[in-house]
Amino acid sequence: MIPEHIAIIMDGNGRWAKKRSLPRVFGHRQGVKTVKKIVKSVSRLGVKVLTLYAFSTENWKRPKTEVDALFSLLSRFIKKDLKELSDAGIKLRILGDLSKFPQDLKSEILSVCKDTENNTDLELNIALNYGARQEIIKVFEEMLKQGIKKPTEEIVSSFLYTAGQPDPDLLIRTSGEFRISNFLLWQIAYSEIYVTDKLWPDFTPKDLEAAISEFQKRDRRFGGI
Ligand code: FPP
Repeated sequence: MIPEHIAIIMDGNGRWAKKRSLPRVFGHRQGVKTVKKIVKSVSRLGVKVLTLYAFSTENWKRPKTEVDALFSLLSRFIKKDLKELSDAGIKLRILGDLSKFPQDLKSEILSVCKDTENNTDLELNIALNYGARQEIIKVFEEMLKQGIKKPTEEIVSSFLYTAGQPDPDLLIRTSGEFRISNFLLWQIAYSEIYVTDKLWPDFTPKDLEAAISEFQKRDRRFGGI
């Protein structure tokens, strides 16, 4: 079975650049190329939701030049590449708090989300200024506001950024680190985790197929026997 939802922690852009004695931003630029290839191949494979971890709430700690470079890559991706992807039936959703974002980038993002809202081939979630603990706090706040005293799993899920989407079946992390890094803590309760040593800029559609094929061999019991 093809996973319905794949989530990816795209790690290793900095190391990719360092290996070539290039500035880190070159690694991010190469990373965007990988994003485009992987989005297309995921869509071709019939995956319904793809979630990419592009910028965490902790990434603000990076030097301003790197943060600015990441924002400019994202902005270009959203303006230019997503327009193309949208014609290919992709629907964009942002997971995260956009309030701290530059106003022009925020408007671009919201306009692409609106323009693609009726697309049905692939839902592309981009996690931006995202942190799973912050997301869960947001759920608590919403429940308090609405006076919900008896939360259920369904109620909690309905207040997450991923409301209405299936949880990830497969979580991929590149560059060999065995960490979750504050990503989708609630949603990955039963996800299969796949870690590859490949750095994100080197990750190919073939590597994606290898991850899916490993996933297909796993025996998912969801706590049963
Ligand atoms: C981790 O590599 C990667 C990031 C923090 C940013 C990921 C962003 C992109 C791939 C580009 C923009 C995304 C989209 C969706 C267009 P790292 O810098 O932490 O690498 P390192 O651990 O080797 O230093």
